[in-house]
Amino acid sequence: MKKILLASILLSSVLLMAGNTDKTQINTMQSLEVSMSQIQKGLLYNHKGMLKKGITSLRTELGNIKSFVIHNDKSIQFNAHEYAQKETKALDMIASRILQDFKDGKKETVMIDYEQMLNRCVTCHALVRRW
Ligand code: HEC
Repeated sequence: MKKILLASILLSSVLLMAGNTDKTQINTMQSLEVSMSQIQKGLLYNHKGMLKKGITSLRTELGNIKSFVIHNDKSIQFNAHEYAQKETKALDMIASRILQDFKDGKKETVMIDYEQMLNRCVTCHALVRRW
């Protein structure tokens, strides 16, 4: 009886730990989505403050992608962690470019960069989660 109890306590704490990891990832991702919406609002309302807020929070959240340990499909040779780090850098660069170009009034470039950013989000999801 004691053994069963111990085993179930152990199992539930392992599950809890696994759950926590994913929850952090999901929180990061949801914040990224909010940041992207904020950036889009800045574009639509032509409001630098809104755009800047979105860029700042996006760049902060990107810091958490770096530490991602993504559950890989074991059948493929793909270093998800390395990929995540590379993507984080690329997204961060695009984010700072968007801010600068918006300040300089280069709206078309900003739109292209925004789309490129969204593409990178979705590409990672397709690779890592098969979405
Ligand atoms: C390097 C890979 C990677 C990049 C880049 C990435 N994501 Fe994700 N995203 C993930 C993974 C992995 C999940 C699934 C999380 C899980 O289920 O543990 C996810 C899930 C999500 C979800 C769903 C969260 C939920 O509640 O189910 C949203 C929204 C999201 N990402 C938004 C974004 C946005 C916006 C960007 C770009 C700014 C982005 N992601 C870039 C890997 C990435």
